[in-house]
Amino acid sequence: MNVPARTALPLHALLCCLVLGLSGCPPDPAPEVTYEGEVKDILNKRCAGCHQADSIAPFTLSNYEQASNLSSVIAHSVEQGSMPPWMPDNTCNNYERDLSLSDEEREALLDWAAIGAPQGESGNNDDAGAQTATEIRVDTEISMPESYSPQVSPDDYRCFLMDWNQDRPKYVTGFKVVPGSAQIVHHVIAFVVNPSGVDDFIAMDEADDGPGYTCFGSPVVGPQSVSSATRWRWLASWTPGSGARPMPTGTGIAIQPGSKIVVQLHYNTLEDEPIEDQTRLQLQLEDEVDRPALVLPLTNYRWLSGSESMLIPAGSPDTVHSMSADLSENVLGFLGGTIGLSTGDSFQMHSIGLHMHLLGSSGRSWIERADGKQQCLLDIPRWDFNWQGAYEFTEPVTVHPGDRFNLECQWDNSAGNQSPINGEIPEPQDIEWGDGTRSEMCLAIAYVTAL
Ligand code: HEC
Repeated sequence: MNVPARTALPLHALLCCLVLGLSGCPPDPAPEVTYEGEVKDILNKRCAGCHQADSIAPFTLSNYEQASNLSSVIAHSVEQGSMPPWMPDNTCNNYERDLSLSDEEREALLDWAAIGAPQGESGNNDDAGAQTATEIRVDTEISMPESYSPQVSPDDYRCFLMDWNQDRPKYVTGFKVVPGSAQIVHHVIAFVVNPSGVDDFIAMDEADDGPGYTCFGSPVVGPQSVSSATRWRWLASWTPGSGARPMPTGTGIAIQPGSKIVVQLHYNTLEDEPIEDQTRLQLQLEDEVDRPALVLPLTNYRWLSGSESMLIPAGSPDTVHSMSADLSENVLGFLGGTIGLSTGDSFQMHSIGLHMHLLGSSGRSWIERADGKQQCLLDIPRWDFNWQGAYEFTEPVTVHPGDRFNLECQWDNSAGNQSPINGEIPEPQDIEWGDGTRSEMCLAIAYVTAL
């Protein structure tokens, strides 16, 4: 970062000097924050990834004129903590590709706006260009089979089946989403459909007119039998600004020939004109990896089967449900086989995300060690469905038998927190676990491998 230019003494200070002599001079004023001095670097590093032409954010922040015109709005969003959209509380754990502002960066933006957004030295108005993001090697690309124009406003949630194009088993070691129309694609979650599940997914696709099919909380609609964890599993997720995502070094997710990939897209469609989208995935592949990985959905499976209620009563502003389990006891026995883990093994957790729907207000996940110590995994104090993502730990977390995994979700089902359906705000109703927009989930999604 450049050293900011010194400012001239402000008028009131000059007057003090004149009236009181040198002793009346205030100490040197703090160097003034300018656009060229430091703000430009901060905006490039922290904001321009999304605030650039044809991206999801509604305006660009990549030159002085735009940034200074919007300086008070910028200060407001930074003060509120709504921008940049980084959801985790960083006192919980440390994550890779952290988008959040440091205290100094935050102060600089606020000070700059407060003194009228000066440009400073070496002014030019060239587009500064976004920070270069993480990249992956692109070994293959798969695409939505045809373009789709979102039909439902303001939010259209739709699943599309993509053909898998490899004729040998492969591991996905890097993942990137290339939105067809970046201004409307708000999130993408990709799932692997194992060969045994392909017919079920084709049937769901065919049962809905037009490209793809409507889906919301998971890629499954209709018969519960398709929910079987052996037929489909999570691959990766993407939100605008998250860039290419290499899987943790030496790890990858296996995909068998004859599989399909199903992607769920959330389209945010506030435009009047219909916009077509044909989103693609770019993948980095390997024949072998040191440690095969599994993306594990972790929850109270009794909520999922309906044998235990996850009731969120109509009108309640604050309902909390939580679960706690020794993962090495049950989940590994059930799902761990594909990555060489079985009941009683220790394992490593590399990343974690949270999944709730529109009524979610906060969520948190932590490990309670056998000796009673707690280790925080993820704390999202203000849940926002639009910004669900997976957060990769800078240090993977090792989980041993006897450790308990905990997950707690909080919802606001009061009248003031209902999302519009076809332009109308509905009355609150009792909510249970389910796939639809008017149902909820409480899931942690963890990327795990053997040690
Ligand atoms: C990950 C993508 C992303 C990043 C990074 C990001 N923004 Fe945004 N920003 C958005 C989107 C999308 C919107 C539109 C509103 C929404 O969807 O939340 C937005 C809206 C805004 C708004 C309008 C008011 C508001 O709060 O909604 C301001 C101001 C803003 N951003 C400033 C910033 C600044 C300053 C930074 C960097 C410090 C930043 N943004 C970083 C995506 C991003």
